[in-house]
Amino acid sequence: MKRLLMELHALQDKYGFLPKKRLEKLSKKTNIPLAIIYSTATFYSGFELEKQPKYVIGVVTCPSCIANGALELIEYIEKTLNLEINNPNKKCLLLKLQCIGRCYDAPVITINKKIYTKMNKEKLSDLLKKCR
Ligand code: FES
Repeated sequence: MKRLLMELHALQDKYGFLPKKRLEKLSKKTNIPLAIIYSTATFYSGFELEKQPKYVIGVVTCPSCIANGALELIEYIEKTLNLEINNPNKKCLLLKLQCIGRCYDAPVITINKKIYTKMNKEKLSDLLKKCR
């Protein structure tokens, strides 16, 4: 399992996602059934099976983040970047995220898996400049 995870991480790092052809090649190389490889890749949230837009923005929508303005941040992002949750444009994808354990720093967002805490519209405005 450790070897498989290392191989998947290497592919994820190289391509930004796990290309189907590469997973098939990995299956042949390691004699690990493709079904096991896919079940492993889909179990862990750090792996993507499809190419992602350049910027993937996540907003945590669990209670502490919502109580501290997460829904207003989503509206702001949608309006600023002219996109909707789960409906990417050429450059950006906006997702709702489950709690990532930084509730004491709510509201929390991520951009390409980098965590930003105690977010507000002013801080967000600066971060979104590169996503426009
Ligand atoms: S509810 Fe926001 S990180 Fe936990």
